[in-house]
Amino acid sequence: MEWRHMEGAFPQWSGDVIIFYAFQDEEAPLSGFARWMPSQAPWLQDGPVLKDFRAKKAELHLVYAPADAAVSRLLLVGLGKRKDWSLENFRHATAMAVRRCRDLALERALLPTAAMEGLPEREETLVREALTAAALGLYRYDALKTRDVETSDCPKELTVCSEGPLPYWPRITDEVKAVCEGIVLARDLATAPANVLTPSFMAQTAAGVASRHGMRFDVLDLDRAKELGMGGFVAVAQGSQEPARFIIMEHCPEGLKDQAPFVLVGKGITFDTGGISIKPAAKMEEMKHDMAGAATVLGTMEAIGRLSVPRRVIALMPCTENMPDGRAYKPGDVVKTHSGLTVEVISTDAEGRMILCDALSYAMQFQPAAMVDLATLTGACVIALGDRVAGLLGNHEDLMQVMQKIGAPLGELFWPLPLYDFYFEDLKSDVADFKNVGDRKAGTIIGAMFLKQFVPDTVPWAHVDIAGTVWADKDLGWIPKGATGFGVRTLVSLVQSWNVTKGA
Ligand code: BES
Ligand code: MN
Ligand code: ZN
Repeated sequence: MEWRHMEGAFPQWSGDVIIFYAFQDEEAPLSGFARWMPSQAPWLQDGPVLKDFRAKKAELHLVYAPADAAVSRLLLVGLGKRKDWSLENFRHATAMAVRRCRDLALERALLPTAAMEGLPEREETLVREALTAAALGLYRYDALKTRDVETSDCPKELTVCSEGPLPYWPRITDEVKAVCEGIVLARDLATAPANVLTPSFMAQTAAGVASRHGMRFDVLDLDRAKELGMGGFVAVAQGSQEPARFIIMEHCPEGLKDQAPFVLVGKGITFDTGGISIKPAAKMEEMKHDMAGAATVLGTMEAIGRLSVPRRVIALMPCTENMPDGRAYKPGDVVKTHSGLTVEVISTDAEGRMILCDALSYAMQFQPAAMVDLATLTGACVIALGDRVAGLLGNHEDLMQVMQKIGAPLGELFWPLPLYDFYFEDLKSDVADFKNVGDRKAGTIIGAMFLKQFVPDTVPWAHVDIAGTVWADKDLGWIPKGATGFGVRTLVSLVQSWNVTKGA
């Protein structure tokens, strides 16, 4: 889909459909729509159309204009009641509208900024969110289909028109395009099945991102990981026939090589069987997306590269399968991690933390300004928060608050869970420094408490449990059913705004 900007109140335009928003149960239409009607569609004003359209949340009403009208179709988009207004509803409605254009194979759509007049949000934000929702709502994954593939790539063109100039247009279109490319990449990777998306495939994809944007790229194989003492990563990887890959990327703009980097860490389990502590068969196929943390980090790097973000960023993505095998690690094993700390393995299904702990301690050599890890770490997080809110834990209140604040308007919700010191008691071990799981209580917190052992208090750090948010069980408009790409929007913005010297 191509985006254009056109100047002029209601310019001479000969596309297929013009889009207008409306609130439910309001007597008068939104002001821009009301201004447009008398000259452009007087037949609408007193006819039955507006009466029949309730404008409920994401309700769509397609109206055909009389034969002599300049634009042949009008798509009315409901936003629900004004008191229920949210950017999320706006994104949802916009995505559904654009999808209707696709279903009807309408090639050219017009979205006037006038249509947004009277909505309780800045115009720039609305245009940005509309473009984002339009791009992401059309997402689909059909790389592996050979039959009955939906081929419509409509709308081919979305034109935003405005009376005056839009000084922000070039900036936000660049930004939205870059971020959406990153999200699409993250969604594609999380959707791809484990026989396609192997650790090597992840590494190749990352190498592609790095070379496109002039980033440093390095990948450690299992031998190298062993040499470096990454006992956690090696323990998980040794049970798989699929070669493991520990991926390292660095985005370092000119002159910033001494800047303390922002470090992003993503869990990259390309398939999680549970290992010897094997999972039940039901729904095990969902564990193909256990690398979504790494996918989010890579998607974020793609966006950061496209935007040439003036900030040093390092990405670490430990990638491996977690399999049962003659060589697999076993419950009871004691593993020496990269940090030197020893871990007693109680469950081989708590593999995420086993690979992440090595990535977190490996990161210390870079002296991070801040560090965020993302992981589909615990089923408990899905039980606690559901699939639209991510668990947020860490050692730095400011960092966590900033993430919540940045994420909410972008449609990415984070909710804090506590990390009191006493939670560590559940991890005490008789034979090693600590165990890799507790006893069912506070599963998400215990997972984070484990990771905390590997991060000094002096490094601002946040852990995001995305076990729920990474996959949408039902269509959410701008997030079609399936992989969501959750986290990319927040991380791109966070990396740009986090103050290097002072923190938040
Ligand atoms: N990848 C899973 C967590 C998960 C579960 C993500 C469901 C998405 C949906 C993780 O590796 C895991 O197995 N966690 C265990 C931890 C337990 C052994 C402490 C879990 O949640 O049961
Ligand atoms: Mn597991
Ligand atoms: Zn897992």
